[in-house]
Parts: sequence; structure tokens; C-alpha cells
Amino acid sequence: MKFFADTAEISEIRELADQGLLDGVTTNPSLVQKSGRDFIEVVKEIAGIVKGPVSAEVVALDHAGMMREAEVLRKIADNIAVKVPLTPDGLKTCQKLTSDGTMVNVTLCFSAAQALLAAKAGATFISPFVGRLDDIGQNGMELIADVRQIYDQYDFETQILVASVRHPMHVVEAAKLGADVMTAPPKIIQQLFKHPLTDAGIKSFLADWDKTGQKIG
Ligand code: E4P
Repeated sequence: MKFFADTAEISEIRELADQGLLDGVTTNPSLVQKSGRDFIEVVKEIAGIVKGPVSAEVVALDHAGMMREAEVLRKIADNIAVKVPLTPDGLKTCQKLTSDGTMVNVTLCFSAAQALLAAKAGATFISPFVGRLDDIGQNGMELIADVRQIYDQYDFETQILVASVRHPMHVVEAAKLGADVMTAPPKIIQQLFKHPLTDAGIKSFLADWDKTGQKIG
């Protein structure tokens, strides 16, 4: 499963890239607002750090407006995935962009029916938002299982990009269900390392090692 970082913070992206954990980045208008940076500048900087896909979202709601914005975004770098919302205009834009060879991430997916439409529109990535579904009392992971089943049934090549990830168990469940990609805030990716028995094990091994009085090298 590929790991994308859901952030527009350069320092967090660099840290994950240095750890060799980063396959791509997703941004959205809220994350850009949080970064306080100029949208085009920050996306350009991210695309220079990360080799994999970097999602940059359009804000127009009509097809012509989305195409105009996509023109600007896809010129930033070769690894830009234009992010469009799951609407009729968004999918029309998706079809046009992917047929021209541009990667497209269809975002704000909350149902299997929507995911089916995105695959038929040739989306590179579909982003089902599991956390936001959980927030309203629905099971986000059931959606991932449904989309996996449908895509496998018809050999759709659209990659399932699990989004709105809120905790490490979302990552584990997504992996068990065969999601292609997950995008999470860097803090959650770092939490994947954590286990109290790992910390306790290191502590007791070092205590015993000190008693040997030896050194390595
Ligand atoms: C995905 O591309 C989105 O940027 C993101 O996962 C949204 O997550 P949120 O529900 O935590 O805002």
C-alpha cells in the first residue's frame, strides 16, 4: 500500500521523505489555508521534494472553470494530480484530463455508487473519506470494502486512496482490505511506529547491555 501525506506543511513532508515513507502528498484548500502559504508556490515546493503524485485541488465548480484551473495546476510539475470534486462537472473534467494523460484524484467520495462513477470516468485515484463517514455514524471501512469489490469485479484501474484517515487502525484496516493508497496527516503516520512493548524492550535490552561493559566498534 502506498503512503501519501495529507498536509501542505513542508517540514512534515521532508521528515517523512527522509524516512523513506513517502509515496505522494495530498493537499486540499483547508490544508493550504492552514499552511498560510501561497497555493501555487507551496504545491511547486512539495512537487520538488516528492517524486510521487502530489494532489492539488481545483476550486471552480463548473467544468470550464475546472479546466482553466487544471491547466494552471498541471503545468506546475509532471507529478501533479489534479483533484476534482465528485460532481457531474468534476467527472466531466476528470474524463477530459485523464484522456490527455493528466493524473486525476476524484475527491469527496462517500458512496460506492460515486466510486463506480469515478472509475467509469477514468479517475487515477478515488478518495473515499472514511473519517468523515465515521463522524456521522456510518462505517467508512465498509465503503472501502464495497469499492474494492466493485473495482476488482470489473478490473477498474482506478486506485483506491483512503482519505480522511483519523487513527492508525484506519491504516491497518485499509491495508487489510487491499486499498491501493492511504493518505494521512503525518502525525498518524508517525504513530504507526509506536508500541509500548517496543519501547520497553529497548529499555530492558540497553540496561542489560550496560551491565556487560562492552562497546560495539
Ligand atoms: C484527502 O485528500 C483529504 O485532503 C483529507 O483526507 C480530508 O481529511 P479530513 O476529513 O480529516 O479533513
